[in-house]
Amino acid sequence: MIPPLYWNAEGHVDLLDQTQLPVAEVWLEIKTVEAMAEAIRSLRVRGAPAIGIAAAYGVVLALRDDPAQPQNAVQTAIDALTTTRPTAVNLFYALDRMQAVLDTHPDATTGYLRMALLAEATAIEAEDQASGRRLGEHGVPLFQEGMGVLTHCHAGGVATSGYGTALAPLLQAHVQGIGLHVFVDETRPLMQGSRITAWELGKAGVPATLITDSMAAHVMQQGKVQAVIVGADRIAANGDVANKIGTYALAVLADAHGIPFYVAAPLSTIDFDTSTGEGIVIEERKAQEVTHGFGRQTAPDGVQVYNPAFDVTPARLVTAIITEHGIAEAPYIDTFEGWRERQQNQPSLR
Ligand code: MRU
Repeated sequence: MIPPLYWNAEGHVDLLDQTQLPVAEVWLEIKTVEAMAEAIRSLRVRGAPAIGIAAAYGVVLALRDDPAQPQNAVQTAIDALTTTRPTAVNLFYALDRMQAVLDTHPDATTGYLRMALLAEATAIEAEDQASGRRLGEHGVPLFQEGMGVLTHCHAGGVATSGYGTALAPLLQAHVQGIGLHVFVDETRPLMQGSRITAWELGKAGVPATLITDSMAAHVMQQGKVQAVIVGADRIAANGDVANKIGTYALAVLADAHGIPFYVAAPLSTIDFDTSTGEGIVIEERKAQEVTHGFGRQTAPDGVQVYNPAFDVTPARLVTAIITEHGIAEAPYIDTFEGWRERQQNQPSLR
């Protein structure tokens, strides 16, 4: 289990700077809402569940310096953190929960409000850990000895609260002695696959091979891959999946080669308010991430660039969605609704 951050009892967040991986494991002390917003925006903390957890703790930081108007300070923090990244729904899921705590304590003192907010942030983190573990257990039976499995971006420990989503079943299969070989897309332009997935699989001792994104079709054609598994930033109610740019291309390729395409995500990644993928806002990031990746210019000055950070894979290309509640197949909406109802009736399942 590799968590991306810890709440430090001294009243700040210790956060692993994921932009420095895999060369250095640098831990930052995040002491202000602004520093947390910057860390989310610049991908020092990234991955849908991790962003939500970071934002939740970021709200608590608003009360670090005992402001005169604690409720106002917390509201300002929630509003600021809401604007950091638009696609991963876990950010809004976590901030909505922090907002509910604020709304139920309109007259609380700073100390009491801080305690209530910290308890909620800790609960969000703990629930995600439990989800990751359960999700991994549900996913293991999909993978058999000798399979090659392709993954994209990074959906492991530091993208969540420690257990991961797409990597959770693979890591648990490895622990159970099921021999898998993971093909890791490097994931242009920010290389979350090569920098973080390859690093995390290496730490766990899982056999893995790094490929560039454009090699995926070739390795499938060569019969090296028997399944694809990815995480998600937001899943619409109908099962359309927003995930790192390049995911849709993999789903099309998997379909063309008759390979199952799995998505792993906690229920907190399902956006019941968005009926289809068309309603999902796709983040566009700076041109420099494409033209000057990691400090070296690789495109001519002034070239036009389009840099969407995510794409949407239609539900019809998704073989199954693995969550902490089990495995769903199309049509997804009924299964999702059933899980949500079960969770509402039994909050311990959250
Ligand atoms: O831009 P990023 O690095 O935050 O994008 C992350 C992804 O696309 C992950 O695949 C997704 O959040 C799932 S993480 C468990």
